[in-house]
Parts: sequence; structure tokens; C-alpha cells
Amino acid sequence: MYIFKVAVVGAGTMGAEIAQVVSWSGLPVVLKDIDQEFVDRGMSKIRQIYQRRVDRGKMTQREMEEKMALVIPTTGFEEFKDVDLVIEAIPEKMPLKKQLFAELDRVCPSTTIFASNTSALSITEMGEATKRPERVAGLHFFYPASFMKLVEVIQGKHTSEETMDTLVDFATELRKLPVRVKECPGFLVNRVLMAAMGEALAFQEETKVPPEEIDAVIKSGGGVPMGPFTLSDTLGLDIVLDVAHTLHEAYGERFAPTQSLINLVQSGKLGVKSGEGFYKYTG
Ligand SMILES: NC(=O)c1ccc[n+]([C@@H]2O[C@H](COP(=O)([O-])OP(=O)(O)OC[C@H]3O[C@@H](n4cnc5c(N)ncnc54)[C@H](O)[C@@H]3O)[C@@H](O)[C@H]2O)c1
Repeated sequence: MYIFKVAVVGAGTMGAEIAQVVSWSGLPVVLKDIDQEFVDRGMSKIRQIYQRRVDRGKMTQREMEEKMALVIPTTGFEEFKDVDLVIEAIPEKMPLKKQLFAELDRVCPSTTIFASNTSALSITEMGEATKRPERVAGLHFFYPASFMKLVEVIQGKHTSEETMDTLVDFATELRKLPVRVKECPGFLVNRVLMAAMGEALAFQEETKVPPEEIDAVIKSGGGVPMGPFTLSDTLGLDIVLDVAHTLHEAYGERFAPTQSLINLVQSGKLGVKSGEGFYKYTG
């Protein structure tokens, strides 16, 4: 199935980035949130991403306006009558996601594919909130989606091969690198990432080697853009702890969160967004 029009629901951190990626590929994309203020914020984030490219001479102002014209901001469902794919990027709460998918099921054509950008929740359970579970899958972009190549395409228990193939082709059209994953807690990337980050955090707790030293070693030797402490602070320590709890519950002790991470979250130190985590941030 070919995708001619896309909708992204949730214009927050991920939704705006994903809508930018879709518009960049030349497809029209509806960007929906619950409040005009959030839609406007998402639109200015998309504009910022394009503006940086214009400033660096990678595209012209005119090209930027053409891409921006592909994004259709809305708080309603009127634009969903002819979408081929909806990508959900609302908060990581199962009841909210199920309610949204049930609503989408009523307003979208029966052929529309629903994809969730969830980092950890069950695609199968979301699919079961609709009458089209074979057309519900995960499409997990990574932050910042405008830059990160990898996209996990996640197959729930009911997701058809045709839906998987369509999403893999779609991700390739977006110039991303899709990887097929069967549903399991943490999917592929978060399982590997959290195992590595958890080990770095446990090493720090045991040895008291400062985070900046561990970050520097891993960054220089590991071929990664940032070390595990900077990455945790950037993602948000509350989010990292939530994912750790999910994996701990699913796979046992090897994913137990460290006490230092729990203590930081309990004292409101959530990383960059709160001004302090493993590091202090000013300005
Ligand atoms: N932030 C990340 O680094 C990251 C990375 C990968 C995946 N994810 C996943 O992406 C999803 C979104 O995360 P985020 O960080 O962008 O969240 P966010 O809080 O930044 O944005 C969520 C947006 O959804 C809107 N929203 C809430 N309910 C809605 C509804 N019913 N209809 C329309 N809009 C609604 C909110 O107003 C908000 O603007 C989550 O499932 C998260 O786990 C996040």
C-alpha cells in the first residue's frame, strides 16, 4: 500500500520532529494536538528545524516555505478522512493511547494504518482497542527524529505482514533505516541501550568514578555522540527510570535500576529539563 497522506497526533517533542521528517519527504502531513497552543508550538519547532538548514545553506527559504506548506496544523479530526497513515505521539500512558486509537478507528477510513511511537507499551493492546488490529503497529523514531536514522517497525500479535511491509517501505521513503522487531518489552533498541546504560550507572555507583570521566571514555572509545550520563540527563531521568522499571519487571534483576538513579528522580533532579541530574545545567 502506498502512503499519500499522513497524520501525526501529538505535537510535542516527538510529534513535531516526526511531522518535519514526513514533510521533508514531500508528503502532506496533518499535525494534531488537543490545544491550539500546543499545535503552534509544534509548528514553530518544525520551522526552527528547517530554518537551521536554511541558515547553513542546505536549502533555500523558498524550499523551506514549500515544505512548511505541507504541514496542516489542527486540533480537530476533519483532516483525517483521507489519511493513509496515522502516527501517534501522545504521552506514554496506555489508557490515553487506547482511547485515541478507538476514536481514530471511528474517524479514519477502514484502510488507514495506525502506528504508535511508543517506547515501551504493548502494540497488541493498542491494536485491540480498534476493529483493525492487523493494521496497528509500532513505528518507533528516536530523538531527535529529524536527525536519527534508525526506526523500529514493531509487529504486535495481530499486525499483518502487509502492514509491516508498508511501514518498512514508508520509513525507507523517509530516508530512515527501518529495523523489523517482534513485540517484546523494550523492543530491540531500549533493551540494548538500557543494558549498557544500566551497567555504566552501576559501575559509577560501585567505583565512584565521576560521571564526566566515564562519559569521556565511552564517547571517545565507543563511537557514540554522548556518554550514558549525558544521554540519561538529556532523555530525562524520570523517563529512563520508567523504562528501567518496565524492563526490570519483564526480564528480572539484570535490569534493576540503580539506587543513584532512583534517588535523583525522587529528589526532582530529572536532568536537563529540571536544571540538574547527573550534571548541573544553567541558562
Ligand atoms: N521524548 C523522547 O525522547 C521519545 C523518544 C522516542 C519515543 N517517545 C515516545 O513518543 C511519545 C510522545 O512522547 P513526547 O516526548 O513527544 O511527549 P510530549 O509530552 O512532548 O508530547 C505529547 C503531546 O501529545 C499531546 N496530547 C496528549 N493527548 C493528546 C490527544 N488525545 N490527542 C492529541 N494530542 C494529545 C500533548 O498535548 C503533547 O503536546 C511517547 O509515547 C514517548 O514514549 C519519546
